[in-house]
Amino acid sequence: MYYEQSRTYLRTPQSGAVLDPRRYLSVVDRVICKYGADRSKLINMLQEIQREFQHLPRQALEMLSVKLGISLSEIINVATFYHQFRLEPVGVYVIQVCFGTTCYLKGSSEIYESMRKVLGLRERENTARDGTITIEKARCFGCCSLAPVIMVTSSDGSERYVHGRLNVSEGKRVVLDYRSKALMKLKGLKNE
Ligand code: FES
Repeated sequence: MYYEQSRTYLRTPQSGAVLDPRRYLSVVDRVICKYGADRSKLINMLQEIQREFQHLPRQALEMLSVKLGISLSEIINVATFYHQFRLEPVGVYVIQVCFGTTCYLKGSSEIYESMRKVLGLRERENTARDGTITIEKARCFGCCSLAPVIMVTSSDGSERYVHGRLNVSEGKRVVLDYRSKALMKLKGLKNE
């Protein structure tokens, strides 16, 4: 599946903009510099790459494979084994809904489903087809007193927000607000 989607890997889903490969190289160089060409640190390296791009771009993994002397398929096997890693690009905003025990007991599952419905997500889809929002389940964020909690992160990592004590209707409003913001950002990108 990963390979089938490889042609889109240089493009962000939201803008269709081609990313400069030098950006991948500089991030990969940075993680190699930090951890050395040490295969046992592969997970840490993947975490840092994902933090940068909100997913694991194929081209960055190819560069990492060359630098570490590990095959690309081995790296992809590791990445697919752990749920924390994403191989597909995400929307302008990623909304993570906490499914930790406290949040779950306070209705996070209903909020999650209603948000998906607002975006018209089909089964197995996590990202809206207009590239605005990705919705994911998450583990406890450590702020259970605010349950149920969602965390919203921009795909470039520059923005992070936490919303707590939500109910279904507030959850829907929050999704629509971020969707509007995302559409404005996309419009801005197109006009650049
Ligand atoms: S259970 Fe949701 S923040 Fe802890």
